[in-house]
Amino acid sequence: MSQTSTPVEGTAAEELPRPERFADVKGWFWPVDQMIFDWFLARQADTDRRGDLLELGAYMGKSAIFLGGYLGEGETFTVCDLFDSPAPDDPNSAEMDRSYATLTRRAFETNYLSFHDELPTVVQAPTSVITSKVAPGTCRFVHVDASHLYEHVHGDIEAARQLLVPDGIVAFDDFRAEHCPGVSAAVWGAVATTGLKPIVITGSKLYGTWGDPAPFTESLREWLATRTDVWHGVEEVAGLPLIRIKGPKARPPAPPVSRHEPLAAPEPLPAPEPQPAPEPQPAVPAPATTVTPPVRRSLARRLARDLLPPILTRALTSGSRRR
Ligand SMILES: C[S@@+](CC[C@H](N)C(=O)[O-])C[C@H]1O[C@@H](n2cnc3c(N)ncnc32)[C@H](O)[C@@H]1O
Repeated sequence: MSQTSTPVEGTAAEELPRPERFADVKGWFWPVDQMIFDWFLARQADTDRRGDLLELGAYMGKSAIFLGGYLGEGETFTVCDLFDSPAPDDPNSAEMDRSYATLTRRAFETNYLSFHDELPTVVQAPTSVITSKVAPGTCRFVHVDASHLYEHVHGDIEAARQLLVPDGIVAFDDFRAEHCPGVSAAVWGAVATTGLKPIVITGSKLYGTWGDPAPFTESLREWLATRTDVWHGVEEVAGLPLIRIKGPKARPPAPPVSRHEPLAAPEPLPAPEPQPAPEPQPAVPAPATTVTPPVRRSLARRLARDLLPPILTRALTSGSRRR
């Protein structure tokens, strides 16, 4: 049931809404995690750590679009998702119906191509096939965000371990959400039994490595000390320092730009040069025959009302109103 391919037939670009901004793409990828993804991926670029990118669970492409922006020349980005294919088991099928009922692969592709020229390699299949599609030890960053059920996450962790380069980074979504205890159990189980070393946690994600976490932890702590938009603390977990971040006001990096973003309003024209005030002109008296000035007319009415018999006053004032 696995399909690895180029875009699905019948391009949906004309029918599906095309995001004008990154904020228009539905998903669960919060600013604080955009900030931390950016930190790890920019650090990899700075230290010349090359390798491929992998996302398990793409939904409408929010985090995939973001990740795709860090793909280097000659590197491969693979996303694996069931999209609109049947899930491999009943609990996973129920999870899909509950949370991702409107998902289609065409929606993912339309979104992705709004921000990038080319699609990533799309594996439309359960994540259990991923180790047969991606070569071992080739990925520098893996985002695990597919099924949130224990058995599946357990398998995804094992896949990430095989596919990552030794100092590669893995990010797990919803590792402590109330509604997905299976993710917590699987992730902390991997810390206890497989040598996964957590580096940093946010409200939604845990970032770790099976390599040496110390260089990451040290430079991330230094960088966080310069940030005023997030709180961070450090706590020892399983013998290693673990950074905790709270970032409801985190300032994420500049978002990916959609090719459908409306053009900015044109710059306002420069204000005209101030002109010298015109010379005052002598007042030209209005010809007496054109308009009766209001003051004069009301004075005439008042005199008429006071001095003439009522019948004449009425005749005169109604005649002046008609005029
Ligand atoms: C939480 S969403 C991904 C969100 C996305 N990473 C984002 O940030 O917007 C989970 C995705 O995993 C997919 N999924 C669920 N179970 C899966 C499985 N067993 N294999 C592959 N994909 C699965 C769903 O189709 C859904 O698109």
